[in-house]
Amino acid sequence: MSESAKLTIGSQEIELPVIRGSEDEPAIDISKLRASTGFITLDDGYGNTGSCKSDITFIDGEKGILRYRGIPIEELAEKSRFVEVAWLLIHGKLPTSEELRGFSDLLTQNQNLHEDMKHHFEAFPAMAHPMAILSSMINASSCFYPGLNDKELRVDRFPIHSARLLSQVRTIAAFSYRKSRGLPILYPKPELKYSENFLHMMFSEPYRDYQMSDVVVRALDLIFLLHADHEQNCSTSTVRMVASSQANMFASAAAGVCALWGPLHGGANQAVVEMLEAIHADSDDGSRFIRDAKDKTKGKRLMGFGHRVYRNYDPRARIIKKACDDLFDALEHSDPLLDIAKTLEKAALEDDYFIERKLYPNVDFYSGIILRALGIPTEMFPVIFAIGRMPGWIANFKEILEEPHSRIYRPRQIYTGQVNQSYVPVDERS
Ligand code: CMC
Repeated sequence: MSESAKLTIGSQEIELPVIRGSEDEPAIDISKLRASTGFITLDDGYGNTGSCKSDITFIDGEKGILRYRGIPIEELAEKSRFVEVAWLLIHGKLPTSEELRGFSDLLTQNQNLHEDMKHHFEAFPAMAHPMAILSSMINASSCFYPGLNDKELRVDRFPIHSARLLSQVRTIAAFSYRKSRGLPILYPKPELKYSENFLHMMFSEPYRDYQMSDVVVRALDLIFLLHADHEQNCSTSTVRMVASSQANMFASAAAGVCALWGPLHGGANQAVVEMLEAIHADSDDGSRFIRDAKDKTKGKRLMGFGHRVYRNYDPRARIIKKACDDLFDALEHSDPLLDIAKTLEKAALEDDYFIERKLYPNVDFYSGIILRALGIPTEMFPVIFAIGRMPGWIANFKEILEEPHSRIYRPRQIYTGQVNQSYVPVDERS
């Protein structure tokens, strides 16, 4: 017998279907609520709203579980690589070796931007934030690929468009960094793998190649992999929102970059390092900052802590913390910010304020410290997040593209403004 929920509104009682996900997560289907009762639901920040059904990523925030296409993040982090995980997310299964080779080749063949795109980089001021450049240039790229907006071609050409976007996001990101430093642009090299190529384009010099180290390449690849998807977060929902109007994949991804930029989302890795630097500069051991973060009048938060979905340790944070220790050992590197971060984490996890609100470290708490050790400048941290998140955005775009009955996303509101008013001519207004 199918499950249902009963809702009583005054004297009216209606029955609403209950649906369950493949991990048994329950939901009340309210899609017919307004038509049958005139009521809508109000859910500030969408904390209780499922905006779609999706096969891509599963999170159990209470238990601290994250799986891509059913595979635990811990296993992927240990055994897989970013490009393989990108395929998994986009196509729904692990690739065969032939599929993986074909996908890598497609990424290589599509890694160069159209030459005319280079002129666009010239127009940005030197101090432009790389997230602004990234979003603008992803959108600008769409001008060079006819077919992106064509409904039939969008489906047929999905493999090439998605490979192009995934490959070129890394090229655009590196170009924007070099532009901001006044350095000559370096092209990707076909013989290098995904993460190696990014390091090459960022750090090689025209006459001296960047010296690849396996440990560094692996650390960057792991950061990309851990960010690859995270179900209906702010940026992914934005991508789906834009895609629901049948906008093209590049336009949808460019909107995702903008949504990711803020310090409460993908900008948090930058904000964490800036917070740690400020604590260090103040000669605070972290205790003063923790006190301020609990005081609502101070307007401060412990960045890299808390999550809308996780009420437990973010599994990605656990992996990143260990990767950070391993990297520092391998490079014989030290950073006072790592010591401050560990002290802050310990203090927060023992503090009633954070315990009661179930605030734990999230993915951003340690990722910035790794990126600093790799020589990535702070303002590029959200860009690294965006490169990593691209497979998730593409996979979510694909779900909308392939959904035969896909509807435009169009939430309702409760209007709280003035009721019906008459226009008053300007000379009669007091
Ligand atoms: N420091 C201090 N207090 C906090 C923090 C924090 N980092 N996070 C939440 N709180 C408090 C908040 O003030 C509220 O307290 P009260 O109940 O007394 O009003 C309570 O905890 C619940 O917080 P909320 O703002 O309702 O939680 P939310 O689900 O709306 O926000 C969040 C989630 C991630 C935006 C928030 O925890 C935050 O701002 N964290 C810091 C920024 C951050 O690290 N963002 C990265 C998130 S992970 C990467 C990603 O996927 O985007």
